[in-house]
Amino acid sequence: MTTTLLTGISELWTLDPALEDAPLGGSSERGAADGQIQREAALVIEDDRIAWTGPAAEAPAADERIDLEGRAVLPGWVDSHTHLVFDGDRSAEFEARMAGQSYAAGGIQVTTDATRAADDRRLETLVRGRIGEALAGGTTTLETKTGYGLTVADEARAAALAARLVAEGTLDEATFLGAHLVPSEYDGADGRPGPAEYLDLVVGPMLEQVRGSVRWIDVFCEDGAFDTAASRRVLEAGRAAGLGLRVHGNQLSGAQRGVQLAVEEHAASVDHLNHLEAEDVEALAATAGRPVAPGGDPIGPADRPLGPGARDRLLAVDAGPTVATVLPACDLSTRAPLAPARDLLDAGAHVAIASNCNPGTSYTSAMSFCVATAVLQMHLSLAEAIRAATRGGALALRRSDVGHLGVGARADLHVLDAPAAIHLAYRPGMPLTHQVWRRGRRVA
Ligand code: NIG
Repeated sequence: MTTTLLTGISELWTLDPALEDAPLGGSSERGAADGQIQREAALVIEDDRIAWTGPAAEAPAADERIDLEGRAVLPGWVDSHTHLVFDGDRSAEFEARMAGQSYAAGGIQVTTDATRAADDRRLETLVRGRIGEALAGGTTTLETKTGYGLTVADEARAAALAARLVAEGTLDEATFLGAHLVPSEYDGADGRPGPAEYLDLVVGPMLEQVRGSVRWIDVFCEDGAFDTAASRRVLEAGRAAGLGLRVHGNQLSGAQRGVQLAVEEHAASVDHLNHLEAEDVEALAATAGRPVAPGGDPIGPADRPLGPGARDRLLAVDAGPTVATVLPACDLSTRAPLAPARDLLDAGAHVAIASNCNPGTSYTSAMSFCVATAVLQMHLSLAEAIRAATRGGALALRRSDVGHLGVGARADLHVLDAPAAIHLAYRPGMPLTHQVWRRGRRVA
């Protein structure tokens, strides 16, 4: 057992869930309650967990002592929505969009073609590189999806890669997104199979191949991708296979009612939310009181024995609120109306902020940028934005071990090169990540 004492912390954002949380939205606290942000604080890491936090003057002795010289410390970002398993470049599509074209789901096929053509080693190198980029920016919990394979073999390859990275502790959560787009070979023309046959494949042999590799299933519920009925079929097949549910909803329009579907099906999260009606906001808020439940198999690094108390703590995938996940970088990159995060919070919904790193709509994993945008453009308070990018993401992934720095949490820290976290929005785009710790080890 090794202990490390970090001192010289000007602001320590524990966001400790053991303390009563500030109400969601509309309150004077606006995101963090008394005690969840400590001043002139210290913190002790024991192996890979937080063992103690409190006033610097009361800090216990430890094997090692590190002075952070007046910097702010946050929980590492929890990025609950990314698509990292891909090859290929779509910068020309982005440039055309900046010249006035609008985003359409069809671009997914371009990335699918490039991803299918990549060999295993190249794909793994690309994914590891993207995980490294995210980590360097302070992201310590990361979900990623399949969805650029869209054949049984290619989806199984992506899922197996993600599962390997989860098992070694490099990645945290894996999601099956075979229902990302109906691939071009299922266009129903010239005797070829059509979308109905592709849907049968997704909920049949494809799901069967990947279900042991992932904890989640997702669907792109949208015109041009999967309509409401098809999306419901995907989610219900995923639930029957023991997976938790996630939805891409209300991104391009509200036509397919992705939010209502997610709420009805008790999805853990519905993501994008650019086109909401008042009834969608109300429906998400109405799920806020749904209780979470313990559950799920512990997962962790295969190369390190998981001792008592050192297990990643997963919650049941099928209990709890439907989190409203907003994707500020995607909204900017697609010039979409910003998701109404302020309204969602004020209505009492649980909100998460994620990067949606992917080559089509949001080629960035910079969560600090997403948080700054949420403050500057979406009108969240700093505390609301930080909570959404940490605790919010953890709730969307049904995890209680990450997204906060309460005693027993995974020791995942983001040390800012700034005396206060408000610098994230005050100095947007500046390199404010000073150190990153993950599972009790300094990694950046
Ligand atoms: O979350 N919306 C669907 N999927 C991705 C974009 C995929 C792509 O265009 O490559 C997203 O934005």
